[in-house]
Amino acid sequence: MTDPTITAHDRYLTLNYPRYPITITHASGSTLTDSTGKTYTDLFAGFGAGILGHCHPDLVAAANDQMNKVWHVGNLLHTEPQTRLAQHIAQKGFNGRSYFCHSGSDANEAAFKLARLHGQNKRHKIIATNQSFHGRGFAAMMATGQDKVRSGFAPYLPGFEHVPYNDLDAVKHKIDPETIAIIVEPIQGEGGMNVPDPAYLPGLRDLCDRHDLLLICDEVWTGCGRTGKWFAYQHSNIEPDILTLGKAIGCGLPVGVMCANERAAKYFDFNHYGGVPHATTLGGAPVPTAVSAAMFDIIERDNLLARAESLGDEITERWNSLAQSTPAVTRVRGKGLFLAVELNPKNACFDNAFDVVAKALDQGLVINACQQNILRIAPPLNIPTDQLNPALTLLEKLITDDT
Ligand SMILES: Cc1ncc(COP(=O)(O)O)c(C=O)c1O
Repeated sequence: MTDPTITAHDRYLTLNYPRYPITITHASGSTLTDSTGKTYTDLFAGFGAGILGHCHPDLVAAANDQMNKVWHVGNLLHTEPQTRLAQHIAQKGFNGRSYFCHSGSDANEAAFKLARLHGQNKRHKIIATNQSFHGRGFAAMMATGQDKVRSGFAPYLPGFEHVPYNDLDAVKHKIDPETIAIIVEPIQGEGGMNVPDPAYLPGLRDLCDRHDLLLICDEVWTGCGRTGKWFAYQHSNIEPDILTLGKAIGCGLPVGVMCANERAAKYFDFNHYGGVPHATTLGGAPVPTAVSAAMFDIIERDNLLARAESLGDEITERWNSLAQSTPAVTRVRGKGLFLAVELNPKNACFDNAFDVVAKALDQGLVINACQQNILRIAPPLNIPTDQLNPALTLLEKLITDDT
C-alpha cells in the first residue's frame, strides 16, 4: 500500500528533492523508524545536522524548557539563549561576534555582504574554489564551484571567481586590486570529501594577511566537532576572519551563524553602518539557540571531540585495510566522523555509489553518496559502538558483495 504521506507529498510539494519512498515517523539516538515499523541505523544524521543523534534527551529538555519560557520576540529585544550561544562559539575557539540566521546558505550570504562592506565600494571580488559547495541562495550559489548548481539561473551575480582547491599558486595569481575575500571549506564536503594539504589553510591565511583580504572558513559541514575539533580550521593553527556555521549548530533545528572577528564585524555594527546592514526576523530565535547552546555543553561534558577523533581514526584504519584488500575501494577520505571511501565501480558489483546507498537503505542502513564514486558517512558523535560496528560491517559487505 502506498504511504499516504508520499501520495500527498507528490501532489502538494515541489518535487525538487529526489526522495526515497520512505517516511520516517520516529527517531531516537542513531535509529530511525519508518511508517511500516522498519528501523534504520543512521550513519548520516540528516546531512550531519544530527551531531548528537535524534531526540537527545538533554536537547529535548533544553527545547521544552525554552518553549515554556519564550519562543520569539524579534531582535529589537534581547533573549538569553542567543547570547549564550554566541558566547559558546567565541569561547570554543573563534573569538568573534555572531550574527544568527537559519541555514548555511544564509550564513554565507551574510559573510558576503560583510565582505562587500569591508571592501568599501573599492573592492568586491570573492575567490572561491572549484567543486566547493556554499549553498543555494543567490550569492552562495555563485560562490559554489559546481556548474550543475548554477545551471539555468543566469544572469549570474558578478564578483565570484574560482580556482582549483588545494592550490595556493592559483589563489595567488587570482588576487587582484578588487579582491576582498577568499572563501574556503577546510574539507570540501559536497564536492567529494577533499582534504587539503596541511599547508593550504595557513597559506591562504598568509595571502589574506598580505593582501588585506578576509578569510572566510565555511564550516557548515565541518563545524561543531564533526572532525574532532570544535572547528576544522583549528587543525591548522590559524584563525579565519569569518566563520560560517549551519547543519550541526542547530542539531536538526534551523540555525545558521556568521561569526566575524572584530576587524570584520564592525561593518555590521548598526552605528558604524548608519542603519541596519543585515537582518532576518527569526534569526537567533530562543528555542533553536537554546538547543544549540546545550549541544556545546553536552559535547564538552561527554568528551565527544576526542571520541570523534578516535573513532574517526579507527574507521580510517579499518577502511584503509579494506582498500588494500578490495579493488572496489580506491582510498579513504575525510577526518574525524566525516569520512568517505572513494570507490572504483569498474572493479565492483555496483554501478556507482548511489547504487550502494539504495541497497543499504533496503537493509536498514542510512549512508550517503556525494558523487558517483564517493560513499560517505557522518554519524552522530555519540553513536554507540555496538550500533556503529555492525553498521560498518554491513556497509563493507555491500561494497564487497559479500552479503
Ligand atoms: C560547506 C557548505 N556550506 C553551505 C551549505 C549550505 O547549507 P544549507 O543547506 O543549510 O543552506 C552546505 C550544504 O550542504 C555546505 O555543505
